[in-house]
Amino acid sequence: MPVPQQYTYPRYLRSKRTVDDRALNRDVMEAVLAGLPSDRPVRIAELGGGVGTMVDRLIETGRISNADYVLVDTQAEFLEDANTLAAQWRQGLTRNLTTAVPGVSFEVSTRHVPLEDWIAREDSTFDLIIAHAVLDLVDVETVLPRLFERLAPSGVFWPTINFDGETIFMPKDPRDGALMDAYHLSMDERVRDGRPSGSSTAGRELFGHIRAAGGSIVRAGSSDWVVFSGTDGYESDEAYFAHHIIHTVEQELGTHPTLADSVRGWGELRHAQVESGELVYIAHQLDFAVCRGDAEAGVVSASSTPATDT
Ligand SMILES: C[S@@+](CC[C@H](N)C(=O)[O-])C[C@H]1O[C@@H](n2cnc3c(N)ncnc32)[C@H](O)[C@@H]1O
Repeated sequence: MPVPQQYTYPRYLRSKRTVDDRALNRDVMEAVLAGLPSDRPVRIAELGGGVGTMVDRLIETGRISNADYVLVDTQAEFLEDANTLAAQWRQGLTRNLTTAVPGVSFEVSTRHVPLEDWIAREDSTFDLIIAHAVLDLVDVETVLPRLFERLAPSGVFWPTINFDGETIFMPKDPRDGALMDAYHLSMDERVRDGRPSGSSTAGRELFGHIRAAGGSIVRAGSSDWVVFSGTDGYESDEAYFAHHIIHTVEQELGTHPTLADSVRGWGELRHAQVESGELVYIAHQLDFAVCRGDAEAGVVSASSTPATDT
């Protein structure tokens, strides 16, 4: 696809759907799904839920029949996009389906509020709390202890696609090392509303943060993004996804005191490589299934699901 004239975040989130589908760690996901109640609607909260692609995904698994689902996000535009799908989700339909998943109905409502405020004010508890591609944007040390208070005693917390320090573009380019170091540093130095918000090694740091906040890790595993052009080109809208990622690096480093020129040339090369189908993009990330440290049931039983042979 030609280099986009315009970049929009909702399109980025939709284009990310197939990339995430391949990336999500199946072992972790299985532990999460196996621990949910099946005799009543599952109470789900998704923090930083964007346009609701995780709702689509979970409906399409057919593993949860009924859900009361709260989507929390700071971007009204994303939640409006999600709200247009409420009637379809209630019928077991998604963006991708023309036939409903039998017996599936998700009742989805939205909350336009920072997740930090939502967890501080909310007084209900949830069977499943999801943070998909969002924990590396917030101050986890502040967020996690409060988040566990919103988890039902047998509930499960599913933080996924937590970036963990590796951004790879192929073919190699001599500028990659300096640019990726600076890009990662920008994540480490990010401050929002006076609070540290992000880390380039957020994934590995979650092992310590989760335990310190009173959580117990049931499963953990890699959820790397791997984007490449196969025999039919890039899958779905993934050429746009790759262009958007390159654009994000260009935006971040475009005013850098010493690297601005370098990132301009690098960006031109990388966009051209997407157009020719040559570009491969890999990002290392980690997923977790977590229960409350004091939990005695629920997801703990999921940890005894049969392990697959290696
Ligand atoms: C990388 S996107 C992921 C969106 C969605 N989970 C997905 O993967 O499709 C991060 C999302 O978190 C939201 N977000 C970032 N900081 C937030 C905060 N403090 N509270 C609530 N939402 C936040 C953004 O608006 C965005 O929708």
